[in-house]
Amino acid sequence: MNAVPQSTIAAQPAPSARVAEFLKRPRRLLIGGEWVEAQSSKRIPVMDPATGKEIASVPDASAEDVNRAVAAARAAFEKGPWADMLPAQREALLWKLSDLIDQHADELAELESLNNGKTKFMASIIDVPSTRDYFRYMAGWATKIEGSTFQTSIHGPPGMKFHTYFTREPVGVVAQIIPWNFPLAMAAWKLGPALATGCTVVLKPAEQTPLTALRLGELIIEAGFPPGVVNIVTGHGETTGAALVAHPDVNKIAFTGSTEVGKIINKAATDTVKRVTLELGGKSPVIVFPDVDLDSVVGGAANAIFFNSGQVCAAGSRLFAHKSVFDKVVEGVSNAASTIRLGPGLDPQTQMGPLVSREQQERVLGYIQSGRKEGAAIVTGGEAPPHEGYYVKPTVMVNVKPDMKVVREEIFGPVLVAQRFEDIDEIAAMANDTPYGLAASVWSNDVRTVNRIVPKLRAGTVWVNCHGFVDPAMPFGGFKQSGFGREHGRVVLDQYTEIKSVCMAV
Ligand code: NAI
Ligand code: MG
Repeated sequence: MNAVPQSTIAAQPAPSARVAEFLKRPRRLLIGGEWVEAQSSKRIPVMDPATGKEIASVPDASAEDVNRAVAAARAAFEKGPWADMLPAQREALLWKLSDLIDQHADELAELESLNNGKTKFMASIIDVPSTRDYFRYMAGWATKIEGSTFQTSIHGPPGMKFHTYFTREPVGVVAQIIPWNFPLAMAAWKLGPALATGCTVVLKPAEQTPLTALRLGELIIEAGFPPGVVNIVTGHGETTGAALVAHPDVNKIAFTGSTEVGKIINKAATDTVKRVTLELGGKSPVIVFPDVDLDSVVGGAANAIFFNSGQVCAAGSRLFAHKSVFDKVVEGVSNAASTIRLGPGLDPQTQMGPLVSREQQERVLGYIQSGRKEGAAIVTGGEAPPHEGYYVKPTVMVNVKPDMKVVREEIFGPVLVAQRFEDIDEIAAMANDTPYGLAASVWSNDVRTVNRIVPKLRAGTVWVNCHGFVDPAMPFGGFKQSGFGREHGRVVLDQYTEIKSVCMAV
C-alpha cells in the first residue's frame, strides 16, 4: 500500500545541466543537413506537462518551409551519396545512430520525460532502449531486400525467350507524421524502415512533443547521414502536416495518430495517389476467463490501461471479466489504481506522470464526466488532483453499457471501463463491437479456450496472458478503423518499397 494520497503531487526536480543547456539553445528546422530558421517567425511553445510551464519553443513551419524540406529530401533521394550508397553502408549508418542513442540514453530519457510527462524511469527502460533496438533491427534489413525471378508463358515471336524478375526499389520521399505519446520511439518506428530501404524523409513530430525528435536529428547528423536524407519540420497538424500530405512530390505518408486525422489524411492523399499507411486509435479489450491466476491478471490488466498514463494506442481500455471473477478482478485493479503514485516525471518516486497537455487532460476528464452522466459508477479515481500539472487520477468505471461514449470511444487516458460476460460466443461479439481493431488480450490457461477465442477477435495483435508487448520483429497495426498497413518485421519492407518487374527478351 502506498501512503501518499493521489492529491499530493511533488515538485518537478530541476533538469540536469545538459538538458537545461539543450532547452536554452534556439530550436530550428532540420532541412538539407542544416539547422535553418523557418520562413515564418511564428513559434509553438513547448510545455512541461508536470508544471504547465513553457520550457522551450519550436518553429511553426509554413507550407513554404515544407516545400524546402521536401525539395531537400527529393534531391538526396535522386542523386548524391545516399542514392549511390551500398546497403551495407546504410546498415552501418543505422548502427552508428543506435550507438549514439546508447551514448546519450540518459539525456534522451530525461528530455522525453520532461516534454511528454512520462517518468524518466519508464523512458530509460522502455522508450530509449527500444528506440536503439529498433534502429539495430531495421539496420539488418538494409542488406536483405530481395526480389525474385519467375518463369512466364509469354507467347512472343518464334524463338524469343524471356528473362523475367522483380526488384524492390525505395518508394521515394516519405512524409512521416507522428504523435506525442511515445515521441522518440514513434520517430524510430517511422525512420527505421525508411532508412533501411533507402528512402528519404520529412518527419513531423507532434506539436506537443518535438524535443527528442530534434535531439535525434542532431544525432542523425553526427552519425553521418548525408544532408537531406532526414529532414525535420515542427508545426501544427492542420498546417504543416496538411502541407506535407498535399505536397505533389511526396510519395508516401506514414501516419500514427487519431482515427479522425487518419481519415482526413487518407482522403487528402488520394489527389496525388500517395502510398499511405495509418496506425490509428484503438479500444482494445482485455478478456479474463475464470480459470486464470487472479494476481497476474490484476497486475496485467492494471498495466494494460495505466502504462504511460493510458496514452497508448493499444491500451487495454475495455476490461471484460467472466461474471464469476468480475468482482475480484475489478476490486484488484481498482486497488492497484488507487495506490499508483502520481507525480512529475523526473522524481524517482513517481509511478505515473501527468497527461501530455491541458487539452488531453480536459478531453479525458470530459469522458469521465460523460460516463457519470450516462449512469456509470466510478470505483476509483474520476478526477484531477488539485495541481497545476495535467494529472488525472487512474480511474475505473463499472455499470457501463455498450452504447455509452466511454465504452465506444478512445479516451487515451488512465480510464478503464469494466463489463461482465458469461460465455465465449458472447464475449467475442462484445469484444468486436467497436469500430476499432488494433489489439486485444486474452487471459486463460485453458488452451481450448484460447484457441477458440483468438481466431474470433478482429484485431491486429492478440496477446495471450500478457498485454502491450511489442517487438521490432512482430508486425503491428490495425484491423477496421485502427488503420492499415503493418509496421515492424519483414512485412514493413513492403510498405517502403515499390516492386519493379523486368521483362527482358533474350
Ligand atoms: P492527432 O491525430 O491530431 O495528432 C497526431 C499527429 O497528426 C500530430 O503530429 C499532428 O500534428 C498531426 N495532425 C493533426 N491534424 C493533421 C492534419 N489535418 N494533417 C496532417 N497531420 C495532422 O491527435 P491529437 O489531436 O493529438 O489527439 C487526439 C486523440 O487522438 C487522442 O485523444 C487519442 O484518442 C488519439 N491519438 C491516438 C494515437 C495513437 O497512437 N493511435 C496517438 C495520438 C492521439
Ligand atoms: Mg488533433
